[in-house]
Amino acid sequence: MKVLVAGGAGYIGSACAEYLIDNGHQVSVFDSLITGHRGAVDGRAEFIEGDLADRALVSDIMKKGSFEAIMHFAAFSLVGESMKDPGKYFRNNISNGINLLDAAVENKVRSIVFSSTAATFGEPEEMPITEESRQLPINPYGESKLCFEKILGWYNKIHGIQYAALRYFNASGASENFGEDHKPETHLIPLILQVAQGKREKIMIYGDDYDTPDGTCVRDYIHILDLAQAHMLALNAPRSGHYNLGTGSGLSVKEIIDTARKVTGHSIPAEIAPRRAGDPPRLIAGSDRIKKELGWKPRFESADAIIESVWKWMKKYPDGYKC
Ligand code: UFG
Repeated sequence: MKVLVAGGAGYIGSACAEYLIDNGHQVSVFDSLITGHRGAVDGRAEFIEGDLADRALVSDIMKKGSFEAIMHFAAFSLVGESMKDPGKYFRNNISNGINLLDAAVENKVRSIVFSSTAATFGEPEEMPITEESRQLPINPYGESKLCFEKILGWYNKIHGIQYAALRYFNASGASENFGEDHKPETHLIPLILQVAQGKREKIMIYGDDYDTPDGTCVRDYIHILDLAQAHMLALNAPRSGHYNLGTGSGLSVKEIIDTARKVTGHSIPAEIAPRRAGDPPRLIAGSDRIKKELGWKPRFESADAIIESVWKWMKKYPDGYKC
């Protein structure tokens, strides 16, 4: 298929673009490079630099490209920042995304796969979190993604565009060529490995008094190549739908640090710090629906495999992307 990957120079988008190309699809990456990197664009993809806010440009790209499908990763994704500057999140993640949808409708693009998030659920009581769990976001980032999921539902009803909203839990891991390079970095695994690289003195554990087995927060870490597989399957889904994406098992902050010590051979000093505002104690995905309906089979189900892949990537690109 001919696929437009919006946000294809970002962490998850770059690995998905690579996966699509490896599996015979033709990819054009559209990215503003505000948070993405030119160096994260697969050399085999066409690259178009631009912002989704530029409606005329988005229309023009869609007209010229004759795309059969869109993958939409282009969004801001920092929970903390969204609590300080909600307008930035609603404007980009909703309004600018609508430019992409309208251009898709105008040009009769058949389907869209949308990057959604566990943050649309907020702090659910029930674990694992299934597609039936109530979505009550607790920050503007999660709200912006939930709102876009609903907008997709309306575009499906009114214009017939098919969609899959994929709600990632904790995206992690790296492919051979593409990994995580955020500035600033806020995610647990790359921060831990920066200690092993000698770039940080220690890792701060945000709270060890949660109601979890070892007192630290539990998350469902899902490898970006497993996310990529889900995106490709979603391209050919028989109908529109929402799917949660995780391994179904949780790992605590302390377990992740211990695994990183084992993988790197570094002592990785850690220090207990106060809780980070807005962190739910446990988030674990129920992903049976995508397994059943689309035949998704995650391959990286251990913390070792995930952390090994990141460590390998960091050794190859110790300072991240050059551009
Ligand atoms: N953590 C630490 N120390 C750090 C960084 C993180 O202890 O230096 C802890 C956090 O408190 C949390 C866990 O490690 O308990 C994971 O934190 P991340 O920041 O890596 O990931 P989050 O679970 O906060 O966020 C992820 C995605 C978001 C998404 C959210 C909810 O990155 O985009 O899951 O689905 F919104």
